[in-house]
Amino acid sequence: MGKLDNRVAVVTGAAQGIGKAVADKLEAEGATVVAVDIQSGTTMQVDVSQEQDVKRMVEETVGEHGKLDVLVNVAAIVPFTPWDEVDFTEWRRIMSVNLDGTFLTCYYAQKPMRKAGYGRIVNIASNVILAGTPNLAHYVASKGGVWAFTRALARELGPHGITVNSVAPGLTETEGVLASKHAEAFDFVQMLQAIPRRAVADDIAPAVAFLASEEAGWITGQLLVADGGHTHN
Ligand SMILES: NC(=O)c1ccc[n+]([C@@H]2O[C@H](COP(=O)([O-])OP(=O)(O)OC[C@H]3O[C@@H](n4cnc5c(N)ncnc54)[C@H](O)[C@@H]3O)[C@@H](O)[C@H]2O)c1
Repeated sequence: MGKLDNRVAVVTGAAQGIGKAVADKLEAEGATVVAVDIQSGTTMQVDVSQEQDVKRMVEETVGEHGKLDVLVNVAAIVPFTPWDEVDFTEWRRIMSVNLDGTFLTCYYAQKPMRKAGYGRIVNIASNVILAGTPNLAHYVASKGGVWAFTRALARELGPHGITVNSVAPGLTETEGVLASKHAEAFDFVQMLQAIPRRAVADDIAPAVAFLASEEAGWITGQLLVADGGHTHN
């Protein structure tokens, strides 16, 4: 018996990193997982910043599986750019995936959830919204938006049986991070954590699985920080 038996879940950004770990964990807990990503190799190729893609994602999921119980928004771009090098094009690029993408998936996914009177939405934020980490101002703003949107949506969807929460990981070893300058921060960040080791994607997935489960039904509008005790909510 898994905590997600008979549930249908969409996970975005599921080709690698935290998204892949979340998709694997939800499947291990019994869910049927529709793994989507802008990269090929997942169940469905979707660009979360494109409205038609997201609409199709929800329609095909419900068409094939009859319902949509769980949405986990993991897809995002994690940049590394000093603030004075962020031009408006770059600002919009980050916002369109990280924040617009979260709006679009929530907008379309809540329709079948509302009809069913049941739903779980988990949006991945980041502990940088608490720490104000440098070289990430546009990203920090986008993730702050994700968190604030989560809180507002929880109020409006609560009466329909839908919970909306955020998980805020700290610096975590993933393909994306290892290919970026963020990888240089591991030693420093480790010193700031209560648990002094490198986080891996499997450290984050259980927090998501819990919030995606039926038993988390009394928890909504919350930010669950999973960062080894680096920051405090
Ligand atoms: N790894 C970290 O240190 C860390 C820390 C805090 C928060 N996060 C958040 O966790 C999530 C996953 O991070 P990660 O490190 O695994 O990232 P990653 O870069 O390794 O993976 C991100 C995935 O999202 C996909 N993606 C990007 N743009 C997309 C789009 N427009 N449509 C659909 N898919 C798209 C990518 O193809 C990729 O598979 C992100 O939301 C990130 O902001 C990560």
